Amino acid sequence: MVSISIVCLLSLFLLLPSPTITAAFNYKSALSKSILYFESQRSGHLPHTQRATWRHHSGLADGLQQGVDLVGGYYDAGDHVKFGLPMAFTVTMLSWGAAEYGEEIAAAGEERHVLEAIKWGTDYFVKAHTEANVLWAEVGDGDTDHYCWQRPEDMTTPRQAYKIDTNKPGSDLAGETAAAMAAASIVFRKSDPHYSHLLLHHAQQLFEFGDKYRGNYDKSVEKVRSFYGSVSGYMDELLWAALWLHRATGKREYLDYAVANGVFFGGTEWSIKEFSWDVKFAGIQVLAAKILLLKEEPLTENHQKVLQQYRAKAEHYICSCLNKNNNGSNVLRTPGGLLFVRPWNNMQYVSTAAFLLTIYSDYLTAASEKELHCYEGTVPAADLLDFAKTQADYILGNNPNGLSYLVGFGRRYPTRVHHRGASMVAYRESQGFIGCTQGYDEWYSRRKPNPNVIVGAIVGGPGLRDEFLDERGNYMQTEACTYNTAPMVGVFAKLNSLAQTNLSKGSLPGGLKCLGSSELAAEQN
Ligand SMILES: *[C@@H]1O[C@H](CO)[C@@H](O)[C@H](O)[C@H]1NC(C)=O
Ligand SMILES: *[C@@H]1O[C@H](CO)[C@@H](O)[C@H](O)[C@H]1NC(C)=O
Repeated sequence: MVSISIVCLLSLFLLLPSPTITAAFNYKSALSKSILYFESQRSGHLPHTQRATWRHHSGLADGLQQGVDLVGGYYDAGDHVKFGLPMAFTVTMLSWGAAEYGEEIAAAGEERHVLEAIKWGTDYFVKAHTEANVLWAEVGDGDTDHYCWQRPEDMTTPRQAYKIDTNKPGSDLAGETAAAMAAASIVFRKSDPHYSHLLLHHAQQLFEFGDKYRGNYDKSVEKVRSFYGSVSGYMDELLWAALWLHRATGKREYLDYAVANGVFFGGTEWSIKEFSWDVKFAGIQVLAAKILLLKEEPLTENHQKVLQQYRAKAEHYICSCLNKNNNGSNVLRTPGGLLFVRPWNNMQYVSTAAFLLTIYSDYLTAASEKELHCYEGTVPAADLLDFAKTQADYILGNNPNGLSYLVGFGRRYPTRVHHRGASMVAYRESQGFIGCTQGYDEWYSRRKPNPNVIVGAIVGGPGLRDEFLDERGNYMQTEACTYNTAPMVGVFAKLNSLAQTNLSKGSLPGGLKCLGSSELAAEQN
């Protein structure tokens, strides 16, 4: 395989007047690994099909004290708290990717895996939504959890569960969970209509609950405040939920809601340079712009006017990523070209930006709009995708450190990911109990690489000068989160499909089909 590829590359160099070939990445492998990552983060009873075999059952009594079955769901990062808000955002982003790029994902043979990854989250949300106006928000708490360094299988920390209800509301959490279930209902519509309908039912109830009983969830569940406090409040999540419900049901009432509340809730007002589990305005604005761009339904003059305002803000976000706004309102970049928002887990903002740029490029193209108008000039629609590709390629190793920030991809990647389970001997290999602080003494403080490679995790990533320190204690850079990887699933699916198109165009004269550089990359991975 290697020798054929090299022959191919050589012949390309000979044939082309000015060779511009750079080693492309194997996006298919990146896609598969990204989806596999979610298996490492599973809580609950693992199925026999579990492919991340260094993990085992955990959290099997979650909810028992409260008399509710809260077994399942995802750990958010390197610890074992089940935080509802980032978990729901993760599932929304996985579902958005699958809703946009379902065909590309299926062509890469990953349809079943991505559905499983989404369902692992939505099954948990179904359990956690025990009554119309009750949603379990969190299991475990950050303070006691972080006191220990243990495998999830050995967990001895308190598993207190916290809920929101009519007395203790949480419109942000209810809204995000509604968005996740509505988005997932679109993905399951064909393969499992019954499940899709169930998710939609929960989504509608949760949206009503969040809208009727308004408040920030971190006021009701104070334990969450220093970990996933809702800085942007709940208005963005209510708009987000309404737009997802509109997309899932086609019902006019949800669009009317987003239009009527555009100003008051800030959807048409905020120009924001980041998109995250907390701050959703850019995502809302892109979703709203799609309705206008794709003209999928008749719109009143007022709808059009307000959607146009949403669109202007969406494009402000896109232009800020492209460095095309007037100064002061662009996203910083590292010397190596990575978007930079802030030092702690910067990669989360990179992956959400790569996702929004990728789909916005597709929306513009589908609307036959050839360019985007930014303050600093017009940008061809294709450039959005090209820029998203630079960010994906940076993540995969095209960066000053020559390091892939997608764990398990390429030859060099972080080996001391800040992750309890990955940093300790696999349960399968040694079932002897490892105590709370014993893990710190025997595993956390070791210099050696983690014994388990947490394939597909995207770590927090480098700092403002591209600097990165691969140390377990450097959690700002080496901890991985589910919401870092989730948006990249759609991006890798799109890039893989484009790379396949490139390959099929790359046949050489004389019948020798050039396998091209991405096959070379396949050898490396
Ligand atoms: C804005 O741009 C001008 C001209 O390009 C430049 O002189 C000025 O320093 C910039 N201001 C900021 C805040 O970056
Ligand atoms: C496909 O080919 C074009 C033209 O050579 C290149 O600019 C682009 O980056 C390629 N895309 C992928 C995903 O490999």
